[in-house]
Amino acid sequence: MPQILENISLKPYNSFAIDVNARYFTEIETESDLKELFQNPLFSNQKRLIVGGGSNMLFTQDFDGLVVKMSIKGIESKNEGDQVLVTAGAGEVWNDFVNYCVANHFAGVENLSLIPGTVGASPIQNIGAYGVELKDVFESCIAFEIKSGQIKTFHFDDCQFGYRESVFKGAFKGQYIITKVTFRLSLKAVLNTSYGAIETELHHRGIENPGIADVSAAVAHIRVSKLPDPSTIGNAGSFFKNPVIEKYEFADVVAKHPDVVHYPTVDDKIKLAAGWLIEQCGWKGKKIGQTGTWKNQALVLVNHGHASGTEVYQLSEQIIDSVKSTFGVTLEREVNIL
Ligand code: EPU
Repeated sequence: MPQILENISLKPYNSFAIDVNARYFTEIETESDLKELFQNPLFSNQKRLIVGGGSNMLFTQDFDGLVVKMSIKGIESKNEGDQVLVTAGAGEVWNDFVNYCVANHFAGVENLSLIPGTVGASPIQNIGAYGVELKDVFESCIAFEIKSGQIKTFHFDDCQFGYRESVFKGAFKGQYIITKVTFRLSLKAVLNTSYGAIETELHHRGIENPGIADVSAAVAHIRVSKLPDPSTIGNAGSFFKNPVIEKYEFADVVAKHPDVVHYPTVDDKIKLAAGWLIEQCGWKGKKIGQTGTWKNQALVLVNHGHASGTEVYQLSEQIIDSVKSTFGVTLEREVNIL
């Protein structure tokens, strides 16, 4: 039976390093731990929060319920012609999984190097970086239904992936616990280096015919230079999503701000660079009390040491207000507020 602890600080379990307490806390290392936990009345009586790396959440208060930390490990692979199906436990640290794939010459996740968090959380918000999203390599996942205790397999079409979205954040929010994820990777590397910064970095390194390890190293280098390391400065990566607006709305924005950084989307809309909008409003690198925005990437809010979640949340409100009044665009938070 997994041990249930009481009044545990969540500081080590959230990348923002916010010091709040959980009333109850337990760690799940195997699928049978989860089945046993399901039998415990505490599991059904209490409000629950499932955490992986805690890298996409901001705690604004103590959690008056049961926090379930997913630590199921293990990676297995099965070749299928030129492809390989790799299955990883939900509790594997995402970057350890990427490193395993790179070391074994399994291509497809190298652009997602150094993203914080765990494998089990990766489909929930369809993590993405440098031209690749989780959905591009997702085969299926196994999930435990909280209501029934049944195990269910979700295939690609069941997951309704979108930009930082999936069914697990939408219609099925809070209903399933992902225990394993299977990825379809390639044994014949087809690299995606079209994202400007990767090409520039490879060129800078004098690499003309890159392999997946080169791309992974280039991406890691770019991330380290732009983003704060959560082990030293608490943060949850991009705090907001890049807003996607209609073309007629964009016409208004670009008329007033001709240099607005933007990208067309596949569904004929326009995605704006939220970091640029925030920087233009004067927030980049600003420190307000114990919180602020990161000096090299205004989209990332940080904890300079002793910030409360409320302090960070209030800053995010101020940023939303000023982007709205300057550009008429509403920023949406990517981070879950608790
Ligand atoms: N920019 C600024 N000022 C800033 C930040 C960005 O002007 O302070 C402009 C720059 O022109 C830059 C453009 O915005 O060219 C885009 O910036 P960047 O390449 O850093 O990417 P992003 O759109 O800000 C997204 C993801 C990141 C991911 C990067 C790279 C979202 C919400 N964020 O950021 O993901 O690493 O692209 O692919 O989509 C995360 O989700 O936590 C995350 C870090």
